[in-house]
Amino acid sequence: MKAAVFREMGKRMEIEDISISKPIGREVLVRLKAVGVCHSDMHILTGDLQLPLPAVLGHEAAGIVEEVGPEVHTIKPGDHVVVCLTFHCGHCEQCHGGNSHRCYTPDAMRKADEPPRLFKGDERFEPFMSMGAFAEQILVHESGCVAIRHDMPFEQASLIGCGVTTGLGAAIRSASVRPGESVAVIGCGGVGLSAIAGSAIAGAGRIFAVDRVASKLDMARTFGATDGVDGSKGNAVAQIMGMTNGRGVDHVLECIGLKQTIEDGYKMLAKGGTETIVGAARYDLKVEFSALAFLREKKVQGTMMGGVRNSIDIPRYVDFYMNGRLKLDDMISRRRPLEEINEAFDDMNTGAVARSVIVFDN
Ligand SMILES: NC(=O)c1ccc[n+]([C@@H]2O[C@H](COP(=O)([O-])OP(=O)(O)OC[C@H]3O[C@@H](n4cnc5c(N)ncnc54)[C@H](O)[C@@H]3O)[C@@H](O)[C@H]2O)c1
Ligand SMILES: [Zn+2]
Ligand SMILES: [Zn+2]
Repeated sequence: MKAAVFREMGKRMEIEDISISKPIGREVLVRLKAVGVCHSDMHILTGDLQLPLPAVLGHEAAGIVEEVGPEVHTIKPGDHVVVCLTFHCGHCEQCHGGNSHRCYTPDAMRKADEPPRLFKGDERFEPFMSMGAFAEQILVHESGCVAIRHDMPFEQASLIGCGVTTGLGAAIRSASVRPGESVAVIGCGGVGLSAIAGSAIAGAGRIFAVDRVASKLDMARTFGATDGVDGSKGNAVAQIMGMTNGRGVDHVLECIGLKQTIEDGYKMLAKGGTETIVGAARYDLKVEFSALAFLREKKVQGTMMGGVRNSIDIPRYVDFYMNGRLKLDDMISRRRPLEEINEAFDDMNTGAVARSVIVFDN
């Protein structure tokens, strides 16, 4: 099969013909129809996050199930699936507690003594996030596959594999935004726009979109933002304070992962407010907060994939799109074939696209 292989830091990915194993145990072989380009893949390309190489990146995927292993019971060939990287065991304390995204023993990968999933002769390839979705097919654990309704288009479905689920869930599940509360979303890429949509669905009063690219602020209004804050035109904290009578906001959803924006988010909080850090930071980043400001009962927390419970939340998010409450058509700025994967990342660097989607015509 065709796959985009990342061999060396600083070099571009190359399309290569590599082999994929047959499913064993609880594995599912999926022929991909669409894969979104998420900034978490970019973190590997830049070295912000590290991965053994050579690797196949890509983790925001939707497709059709082709074959299943002998122990798979919930998915069958022909199912349309969203694949989400929150693989889980189903029996640890976190899984039983309703937090399968925090599973202690995710059953995601093959064991060291089993043959590799991706290979070419003697060479093996690391599938990023146990997926490796910049490829025509993926072989993944059943727990990450969620069957969806057949009238859901694949390109929009792929976005639910990561960015949309993370952003919606950050607002609805991790931050538990309540009707009427104020929210600032910092960074309006695929994740931030979804956090804005999630805040709107949760009934937030004012939703401030913060970005340094003006076109993103226009896009943010489509997803439910009530106010735009252009970070390139002066201090974002001062702008938010000016727009809230000096009080700040009840929630900040930080969707970039930089020291400056994480620390700014904390400063924007009203008394009793909560900052939820959604952005993935460089592995060695440290941030600083005023300790005294904790006396204003400010809270800081993280989120992993918006606290998604795969089989419960993903079909709900699909319904949000199908009934018109989640405008995923507007999130897809550009469609490209796999051969243009590097150009899709060039687009992300300019900040001009909300999401690029790689489409497969198979
Ligand atoms: N917590 C999780 O489970 C999880 C899941 C998925 C993605 N992420 C992370 O979320 C982050 C966002 O992902 P994405 O795909 O939406 O990224 P993206 O690159 O598409 O969007 C980032 C946005 O931030 C804006 N931006 C960048 N620097 C800025 C600054 N200094 N001031 C104002 N705006 C700025 C850009 O213009 C862009 O609109 C990434 O760090 C990604 O790795 C986390
Ligand atoms: Zn992602
Ligand atoms: Zn578990």
